[in-house]
Amino acid sequence: MSVLIVAVDGPAAAGKGTLAKALADVLGLPHLDTGLLYRAVARRMILEGLDPQRDDGEALARRLDQADLARADLRVPEIDRGASGVATQPGVRAALLQRQRDFARASGGVIDGRDIGTVVFPDASVKLFVTASPRTRALRRFRQLHGDAPLSDAGLTALTDDIAARDRQDETRPVSPLKRAEDAVVIETDALDSAAVLARALEIVRASQGETR
Ligand code: CDP
Repeated sequence: MSVLIVAVDGPAAAGKGTLAKALADVLGLPHLDTGLLYRAVARRMILEGLDPQRDDGEALARRLDQADLARADLRVPEIDRGASGVATQPGVRAALLQRQRDFARASGGVIDGRDIGTVVFPDASVKLFVTASPRTRALRRFRQLHGDAPLSDAGLTALTDDIAARDRQDETRPVSPLKRAEDAVVIETDALDSAAVLARALEIVRASQGETR
């Protein structure tokens, strides 16, 4: 494979999306946030009165269109949980797999998700695994959604519990669990802001490209 594919995996709200988008801009590659695919399936199911934790979402996953993915209302707690629920279904994952591979076939890309380096692009040119403690991630997600609004200790603890529950569901599902690929480079981001994470990721990408030339 000669196109450059950068796989960015990691747990909920670790900053994968922010990093992947910035990396794609700098490298001049398309960016795909694969979490949006699972979120869009969950939203469609809820609209149709189906339960993403229990009902079969495969038929809807096969019918997703661009408008489903472009919606601004995909990052709400009900859809956080629903996406993690539908993501446990082998049929849903199979329906979305080819679409993810086709995205990067012609010109490569920066792809973020949970199983990009392990399942979707096991031969990716570079694999990054971005992580941070559940409390840091809960705080980041709150700031992303609510800016400077006040957050009590109890509120932060509840959000941290939600994130930890989603980690558990993502890590323990039998199909394509969240797991670091053996050849992924870990970026631990508790003490790094987004500019520092980008700088570190670029170093890793450039080092790997230097090695292959
Ligand atoms: O942005 P955040 O990290 O909160 O979540 P996301 O990346 O939008 O993903 C939402 C949910 O989709 C996750 O909790 C996973 O269960 C699922 N997902 C997945 O299973 N595989 C992927 N490649 C991407 C997301």
